[in-house]
Amino acid sequence: MVCDIMSEGYGYGKVILFGEHFVVYGIPAIASALSGKTIAKVEGSDKFELVDNRPETPGYKEKKKEQQGDSLRRILEFLKIDVEKNPIRITLSGDLVAASGVGASAASCAAIARAINEHFKLGLDDEGINKVAYEGEKGYHGIPSGIDNTAATYGGIILFTKGDPPKIERISMKTPIEIVEGNTGITSDTKTVVEDVARKKEENPQEFEEIFKRAKEITEEAKEALINADAEKIGRLMDENQELLRRIGVSCDELETLIKIGKDNGALGAKLTGTGRGGLMVSLTPGKELQERVANAMKENGFMAFRNNIG
Ligand code: MEV
Repeated sequence: MVCDIMSEGYGYGKVILFGEHFVVYGIPAIASALSGKTIAKVEGSDKFELVDNRPETPGYKEKKKEQQGDSLRRILEFLKIDVEKNPIRITLSGDLVAASGVGASAASCAAIARAINEHFKLGLDDEGINKVAYEGEKGYHGIPSGIDNTAATYGGIILFTKGDPPKIERISMKTPIEIVEGNTGITSDTKTVVEDVARKKEENPQEFEEIFKRAKEITEEAKEALINADAEKIGRLMDENQELLRRIGVSCDELETLIKIGKDNGALGAKLTGTGRGGLMVSLTPGKELQERVANAMKENGFMAFRNNIG
């Protein structure tokens, strides 16, 4: 029997402001949810199917298709939903552009978890949704730190430390600050990049120890700077964070070009965000005027640019 009730769920996109990659090793990191969301709709159907209508960076969805299938299997298995017995159609949409760096996979996992929860009346609260989204993220990441699904589920700005359970602290800023995200247009594979970092760490234990120490201090200093909306300081710390990310080998020419465009046009700080080796970068551009200037400069150089706020 096909049930005609439609259930809906959402997941936020995110920008990691401080500590991506280091967070995998237990260093605290800071992420801010974006206003862009992925929406999932679940309805009864005569066969199980996933329809993906999300806007995307060209090629993103095709490149992630296999991982998306794996992710969905993990979510259904974790929730003990038998889609042979209860076939459903899942439709993804929303205004979050699916691209590397915005937490697109996590946003879709949280959205799917919420919609399934509602459809099958599973009674999960946010903590439960976050756990399901984490299981789904394993399909894309291998062993994710959990920061992306946490930001996708809860929204806001969070200070996140990996663990079981993870430590999640909310940060609230005195005033919001404008940002511009530049998109390299390159879809990167989180699992591969995270594995490369692990290899590099094995080969250079002493250098990584020193990098991790500074990464932890940067996040701690950034927490205070964010609370006080101290844009100069946040920007300086972003630049320093980017230097550490360069040293662990996760930047690339296109990201560096975007960072230079941002800085040359007045951004107070700029760094890659998320996985790196493609995907997105984030620049701190307080005030509408500076935000416009930086976004336009990126566009004039042939890149896609997204305007947003943190806080
Ligand atoms: C990817 O958005 C963030 C990484 O730190 C991986 C993770 O935290 O699982 C690169």
